Amino acid sequence: QPFNGMKFLITAGPTYEPIDPVRFIGNYSSGKMGYALAEAAAAMGAEVTLLSGPTHLRITNPQIRLVRVKTALEMYSHALNAFPSMDVVIGAAAVADYRPESRAPEKLKKDGDTMSLHLVRNPDIIASLGERKTTQYMVGFALETERELDYARKKLKEKHLDAIVLNSLRDPGAGFASDTNKVAFIDKNSEITPFELKTKGEVALDLLHEIRKRLAK
Ligand code: C5P
Repeated sequence: QPFNGMKFLITAGPTYEPIDPVRFIGNYSSGKMGYALAEAAAAMGAEVTLLSGPTHLRITNPQIRLVRVKTALEMYSHALNAFPSMDVVIGAAAVADYRPESRAPEKLKKDGDTMSLHLVRNPDIIASLGERKTTQYMVGFALETERELDYARKKLKEKHLDAIVLNSLRDPGAGFASDTNKVAFIDKNSEITPFELKTKGEVALDLLHEIRKRLAK
């Protein structure tokens, strides 16, 4: 039980940003990577809070505290509240970068050949936590389509993370809805640990092993 007595906050899944009572802006994130991390960390003794956007997934371990949210703003406020008592934070959620400025009170009617939505920026959850960091070990994810390493390192630094997990969409079988993933773990000393294509459960174990090694130092 290597994570005995440690508290983990893990974000997972997409966020849904409401347009009107029946529509939203979302993304294809399944939540599988975050849920796999939560199950694996709990199995290794951690006290896990899983902060999840809308997914079809279930958790099997009753010890995991599952908090379900819809929007980025809801995820943000729960994350800020939970943060001070956490030891490890892993941001695996695909948070919407923008949301409609307001949710229309009634269903929008079609009218004309085009329509526009006014979007405003959502807070960056993991970056906001990074700014408040005291002793927490913080890990983010980066999903890139080009100049992967450059962008991943930039995010690691700008969000004040301790490590970032890079998945490249160039790799078949990696990324969003898939059951498998191919990742590299990059820590703040720029040490890069690449892994083979594996199931998300196996990837979770690899990532937790890397985190554990660095916490032990
Ligand atoms: O900047 P980008 O969205 O690529 O960064 C991805 C990382 O930042 C992930 O760990 C994701 O969970 C986190 N993130 C967040 N809040 C946002 C956007 C991204 O926590 N609004």
